[in-house]
Amino acid sequence: MNARENWGSRFGFIMAAAGSAVGLGNIWRFPYMTGTNGGAAFLLIYLGIIIAFGLSLAMAEMVLGRAAQRSAVGAFRTMGGRRWAVAGYMGIVTGFVILSFYIVVAGWTLAYIVMMARGALGAGQNYGDLFGAFVSSPVEPIAYAGLFMLVTALVVASGIGAGIERWNKVLMPALFALLLILVVRSLTLPGAAKGVEYYLVPDFSEVTAGTFRSAIAQAFFSLSIGMGTMLTYGSYLGKHERLPSAALTVVLIDTTVAVLAGLMILPAVFAYGLNPGEGPGLTFVTLPAVFAAMPFGALFGVLFFTLLAIAALTSAISLLEPMIAYFVDERGVSRARAVWIMSAICFALGIPASLSFGAMAGVKFFGFNWFDLMDFLANTIMLPIGGLLLAIFIGWFWSKPALAALSNQGALHQPWAPVWMFVLRFVAPVGIVWILLSGLF
Ligand code: PHE
Repeated sequence: MNARENWGSRFGFIMAAAGSAVGLGNIWRFPYMTGTNGGAAFLLIYLGIIIAFGLSLAMAEMVLGRAAQRSAVGAFRTMGGRRWAVAGYMGIVTGFVILSFYIVVAGWTLAYIVMMARGALGAGQNYGDLFGAFVSSPVEPIAYAGLFMLVTALVVASGIGAGIERWNKVLMPALFALLLILVVRSLTLPGAAKGVEYYLVPDFSEVTAGTFRSAIAQAFFSLSIGMGTMLTYGSYLGKHERLPSAALTVVLIDTTVAVLAGLMILPAVFAYGLNPGEGPGLTFVTLPAVFAAMPFGALFGVLFFTLLAIAALTSAISLLEPMIAYFVDERGVSRARAVWIMSAICFALGIPASLSFGAMAGVKFFGFNWFDLMDFLANTIMLPIGGLLLAIFIGWFWSKPALAALSNQGALHQPWAPVWMFVLRFVAPVGIVWILLSGLF
């Protein structure tokens, strides 16, 4: 393989980047984070972070990747020198950490497809108990996580155009349509209004530094920024494409899906008297009740968890690709070999993550079980630091080339470009450092 592969079209790139962004982060993590952090106030802070610097960072990653046409490590190294390569290496480590728990939750979605199809989640059951029994068992969830890792590896091994791009173009719109149907069902349940109020009427009295930290973690995780994913995807993009509108589209899609997912889950949580602070099980405990309350519920259930599994797949692909790009671009390892070795390691790391809900539930590290520790390390610390390094690099060391690259060497008229640069220089670094440090005092 000599020439580097590229996306087939601009639409394909946008769908792949949106496929990366839209995933378990939106539909599994966002609703339960909103639920454990007080509802509407969290939603507002989250949206504030997306607008204040999420979009700018997404654009910054894509610009750097496209200009370098290299993996994250190679991009930071060629544009910034040897020292900056650290920012790229950090992204690779973050990819391992996130994938190790991501495949566990993705495995749950596979299991739920089967349970829905078998009718094991019919009306009147205690969905909380069912969920608890499944995730705490020692073998099945690990097997599903392994299956999911295997499928991810197969797609990434087959490359950019044929693998990643083709799937995203069809499945993303289908997921969106189903989401809308479920929002309507959830909103029309008796008692849903209390959930809507919880989700949309803010109560700032409970906001703490922790709320901000959770919101920044959620924003980075959901937008896939801070570990080189958007950078790597940008590196497969031709130099003549307009980047800013593509980045804006991706951020809008991701944010819309997250907001809708909240509107799908939280009204139902209140309608059924469930606890919004339930934690990682929230989506899995709530949705079966929603399906049970609709005609053809089992069919919708199978469809929904299938699409969720696919959304998770398009994200998992983008978690794996940055490290593969590194081994292929910088180390000359073959794509297939890199994929199989890295996937095996990720699967091994997934085992303790899965056991955190069962056999290892009592094993604590700094007060966290293994699963929560990985989530905390990656999302609350590593992704924000990755974003911080990126903002500093582009804002202070590579600003002229960045502005030139963003405007396709001056071909595009971008009167707002100074605002973008201002955000990267000041708003993002100050905001990220302030939020990260606020937790320490
Ligand atoms: N954004 C993905 C999601 O919401 C997760 C992800 C994070 C993917 C970081 C790539 C990089 O599920």
